[in-house]
Amino acid sequence: MPSINENRRFLKTYFSDLDGITTDSKKGLPKPSAEKNWSENYVLIDLPEPDPKIIKNDSLYNSFKNRRSVRKYAEQALSLSELSYLLWASNGVNQRGEGGIVKRTTPSGGASYSIESYIIVQNVDGLERGVYNYLPIENKLVFIKKIENISDIIDSFMLDSKQPFLPYFARKAAAIFVWTTIPYRSEYRFDIMAHKKILIDVGHICQNLYIACEGIDAGCCAIGVYEQDVVDKLLQVDGKDEFTVYLAAAGKK
Ligand SMILES: Cc1cc2nc3c(=O)[nH]c(=O)nc-3n(C[C@H](O)[C@H](O)[C@H](O)COP(=O)(O)O)c2cc1C
Repeated sequence: MPSINENRRFLKTYFSDLDGITTDSKKGLPKPSAEKNWSENYVLIDLPEPDPKIIKNDSLYNSFKNRRSVRKYAEQALSLSELSYLLWASNGVNQRGEGGIVKRTTPSGGASYSIESYIIVQNVDGLERGVYNYLPIENKLVFIKKIENISDIIDSFMLDSKQPFLPYFARKAAAIFVWTTIPYRSEYRFDIMAHKKILIDVGHICQNLYIACEGIDAGCCAIGVYEQDVVDKLLQVDGKDEFTVYLAAAGKK
């Protein structure tokens, strides 16, 4: 069990801890891929290009002014264009350079982009209920698996008895964003200094989701209270080289 002081130290930045460590980047090892490589057995779904026409409120001022954690959702589905917009705004590609270099809508320490976006879909037009991985470079979804009893599955990881405000809110969301990290993408460059940056990266992503939701009459609520192993298993990630770090439930207000 780690101590409070150890965990506080993790929040600080002592780059001198890296002295004497040759990072894999400095060793000249190959850079890890920025997207997951799925086998050909998985179905890929094209996402609509993010379209500014779907935005109902384009006042950034009002989005900041009105942003709240939203835990009650309308029964209305999110459209595929809306989901595509939320994925793009939170963790999508907004610049393509030479040599396949891409930049994102959210910053990332060392441009390492270790955060993967998954979506647990309950109520999105045109998508089966189930689990999907977002491929930001290709603007596609990978259909990982169908889930019939999706609300029960959501209950199984939400730790509702420990939820600080409203138990069982996530089971009514149209979609749940789940962010995992593939830590090696950041460790490649920062080794033992990677891990604080990873958590800061995912905070940027979630904040963009909050603000993007405001623009389309949707709302979201960050989720830090969840059952780690249940979510990891649901996403089919190994819990070691890829694991969940944060979630958010989203839906129309
Ligand atoms: C890291 C983090 C984890 C959170 N986890 C939860 C959670 O598990 N359940 C929940 O209902 N709200 C969660 N929230 C939302 C906070 O409760 C919320 O931001 C706070 O009450 C302030 O309200 P506001 O976002 O409406 O301004 C979380 C927020 C953050 C930033």
